[in-house]
Amino acid sequence: MSKDTIESRLVEKRVFKPSALFSKQARVGSAAQREKITRAAARDPERYWASEAKKLLWRKPWKKTLEWKPPFAKWFVGGALNVSENCLDRHLGGPRRNKAALIWEGEPGDSRTLTYQQLHRETCRFANALKSLGVKKGDRVAVYMPLVPEAAVAMLACARIGAVHSVVFGGFSADSLRDRIQDAKAKLVVTADGGFRKGQKFGLKQQVDDAVKDCPSVRKVVVLKRTDQPIAWHSERDVWWHEAVDGQSAVCDPVPLDAEHPLFILYTSGSTGKPKGVLHTTGGYLTVAASTVESVFDLKEPDVYWCTADVGWITGHSYVVYGPLAAGATTLMYEGAPTCPGPDRFWAIVEKYGVSVFYTAPTAIRAFIRLGDAHPNKHDLSSLRLLGTVGEPINPEAWAWYHRVIGGGRCPIVDTYWQTETGAIMISPLPGATPTKPGSATLAMPGIDAAVVDKDGKEVPHGTGGFLVVRKPWPSMLRTVYGDPARYKKQYFSEFGPKVYFTGDGARRDKDGYFWVLGRVDDVINVSGHRLSTMEVESALVGHPKVAEAAVVGMPHAVKGQGITAFVTLKGGLQPGNGTTRELVAAVEKAIGAIARPDRIRFTDALPKTRSGKIMRRLLRNVAAGEEVSGDTTTLEDFSAIAKLQADE
Ligand code: WTA
Repeated sequence: MSKDTIESRLVEKRVFKPSALFSKQARVGSAAQREKITRAAARDPERYWASEAKKLLWRKPWKKTLEWKPPFAKWFVGGALNVSENCLDRHLGGPRRNKAALIWEGEPGDSRTLTYQQLHRETCRFANALKSLGVKKGDRVAVYMPLVPEAAVAMLACARIGAVHSVVFGGFSADSLRDRIQDAKAKLVVTADGGFRKGQKFGLKQQVDDAVKDCPSVRKVVVLKRTDQPIAWHSERDVWWHEAVDGQSAVCDPVPLDAEHPLFILYTSGSTGKPKGVLHTTGGYLTVAASTVESVFDLKEPDVYWCTADVGWITGHSYVVYGPLAAGATTLMYEGAPTCPGPDRFWAIVEKYGVSVFYTAPTAIRAFIRLGDAHPNKHDLSSLRLLGTVGEPINPEAWAWYHRVIGGGRCPIVDTYWQTETGAIMISPLPGATPTKPGSATLAMPGIDAAVVDKDGKEVPHGTGGFLVVRKPWPSMLRTVYGDPARYKKQYFSEFGPKVYFTGDGARRDKDGYFWVLGRVDDVINVSGHRLSTMEVESALVGHPKVAEAAVVGMPHAVKGQGITAFVTLKGGLQPGNGTTRELVAAVEKAIGAIARPDRIRFTDALPKTRSGKIMRRLLRNVAAGEEVSGDTTTLEDFSAIAKLQADE
């Protein structure tokens, strides 16, 4: 980290108080009540978390709430439970039995509703299928699927038998999938022939075939028929989903699992090297996912709750599948693109199903602003009562538009800050209690000791920027980086000592103590709310035979939040030709996937470097943003590289 603190320029003065009507019906109905809960939780966090955990169904009580050997934590030690039982079976004894658990709409317009009873049945049958295909407790299962109900079924079925899922976003390339399968040594892959996106069929099975060639751990591939495209078939390895579940019993006892039994691995980008397998466990993860979905979204029995995330991201894990189902809510899933067949698809869905709670990302909101107010205005959005955002800082203008045009001025907005690693929401308004300010995630959730510190780990005064940390363990924190505890320590618990979790984000607090997250301080870029490591994109580029060196930086982008600029030097004497940019973009797509596609590639004879040979990305960030090169350039070996890039602009 180069700077002691972080500069922060944004000043936003508007305050939106929850309406008396909303507060009256909310679980937490006033700022004073929130403060009281937060104070009590701060005095005795273990007691607070124990009381939240007790709301779940435990097969065996825990002996010790927390065992903290920094930086390694165990929660609810000695306790046993099953996540799938908590999300399904627990609701079958009462009126939720026939409540919609999952409402799904496919992009072509097909739709399905699964009640709790039906989702339970499908999960049990698939869990039995997994068992008969040789999957045992502790085995890893990769899930590479379109956003269909079976993706949730696969996750819940793994949880039911104690298998550990690793969901890989369907937009990732075969190479990315291969790396993730290899790292986790997955025994089985669940996929589909393809899915629908932007009116087209896309394939998934081909990517699996390519990936699995180099994955000796994989014994079986289960394939869901979704698009009916022609696919290659390896009869000794591949099994159709419908054949695998055919004849399977709808009874499958949930296995009581140790609270610290791994629930899933989810790969995410860090500042260096290959993606990290963030490991979450059973009891602590579910406790916080369930507790936050209820308090932040203030869920009520009749709500239709729609979180637009894909299950390939943590938001899809915690707030499409596990959190809402543990809370007995109705969760909505939509398979396709927001603009298909028309730019009003999301609003048509809100109207059609009477969505009451809607949770999406700032990048989507910015895209909707560009499409114009006419599309949402065409639809009856009066069922909405609460809106949420996640993934990156939301610009106040986008917040105000969301509030006015989507929320009709009546819906509170919860701007929720959290990460793959934190498992659940860390900083957020409680909608009936917390006055909101556009652009601020407001206050730390009860039981979460978030702070802004300087480079020595000392809390900075309000108004000053610094590094966002969490000073006490919490139940849904990641337990380790899968197979690499040293990396876990180094990445999250070294900057400020082994007891303090470093988020990698900068933030400041205002005079009311509200948190304003300023974005990443490391080499991670946030494109459309998805974390990408500059290093990964660079190595994809350098993998191309023409490329000598590459430096990748984020640049401001009106819709995506950040876009990607790649500075590339070609090998000795080569000049970029007509197709070079296209070739390089294709190389990145192949290595990572379309989400990492550079927005701009700039060829240069030399990259700006320090005397010790380190690329000075800070300067390139200035160049990419079209700004003056600022700060210290005295360590720069040769200023002409920068001067030339600026002159080329
Ligand atoms: C950013 C997504 C500002 C932040 C759940 C974090 C946010 C990274 C917010 C995690 C927010 C997420 N305001 N920034 N409300 N939410 N971020 O792991 O930089 O995909 O570190 O988890 O997104 O991204 P991840």
